[in-house]
Amino acid sequence: MLAVHQPGIDCVRITRGTPADEGIDPQMDFTRSRGPAGDHGGDAEAFWERHYRTRGSWGVRVNPLLAETAAPLPCGAVLDLGCGAGGDAIWLAQRGWHVTAVDISTTAVERVRDRARELGVADRVATEQHDLARSFPAGRFDLVSAQYFHTPFALHRSRVLRTAADALRPGGLLLVVDHGSTAPWSWNQAPDAHFPTPIEIAAELDLDPARWCVLRADMPRRRATGPGGETATVVDNVLLVRRAAGTARPSGRRK
Ligand SMILES: C[S@@+](CC[C@H](N)C(=O)[O-])C[C@H]1O[C@@H](n2cnc3c(N)ncnc32)[C@H](O)[C@@H]1O
Repeated sequence: MLAVHQPGIDCVRITRGTPADEGIDPQMDFTRSRGPAGDHGGDAEAFWERHYRTRGSWGVRVNPLLAETAAPLPCGAVLDLGCGAGGDAIWLAQRGWHVTAVDISTTAVERVRDRARELGVADRVATEQHDLARSFPAGRFDLVSAQYFHTPFALHRSRVLRTAADALRPGGLLLVVDHGSTAPWSWNQAPDAHFPTPIEIAAELDLDPARWCVLRADMPRRRATGPGGETATVVDNVLLVRRAAGTARPSGRRK
């Protein structure tokens, strides 16, 4: 059970659920559903390259749950996993954070880098192209953000997120915001799409309760705006985990 009690903060108790099927990450249920890649084939990098080469400026706004979480924090080093068009990375840099923005798409990270230059925050934005299934950026971070880090390709996402948790400095935060419902403009309209709950995501991370505290695990609704300006009510699955102060790396995943 993952729960660390700290003064003034209620930790959420997380119980590890049924183990995943061999080789299948339940967090990938959403992405294993039939999506564009399933229909058209191609590898992950090519898929996301196509995605960013063909899209306009949509996605350059900050994600509201990232803004809500980061706004009261002192600025430090932040890692943006699957940064996409860079709305979060630029917003964070403009507020004084030192951002490492990572994506599998070269086009995406180049756009983030160019936009950071245009807006005069290039000194606070490092961009790196990684397939996070294969490599992970170096460094220690005060905040790691994974906003809608979904893909229609096989990816052991909980392993990536555990690596991200291990890259946190003591007292650092890992924020995972997932889709909890399908927006009308989503690439994934599969009727059988499964959205892992924050509790399921936390359980799969299987972090040592002596070193990690779940500060938030809930599913808020919000009004979202799509690429054509259309709006819809969507659900987000939110998990916020804090690494205890004074814990040395490696974090000690539960054995
Ligand atoms: C649904 S988009 C979200 C983008 C952005 N965080 C946002 O909120 O708009 C998922 C992002 O993850 C990236 N991605 C998918 N698989 C990846 C992988 N294996 N390694 C690194 N990035 C990946 C995609 O290129 C894409 O930018």
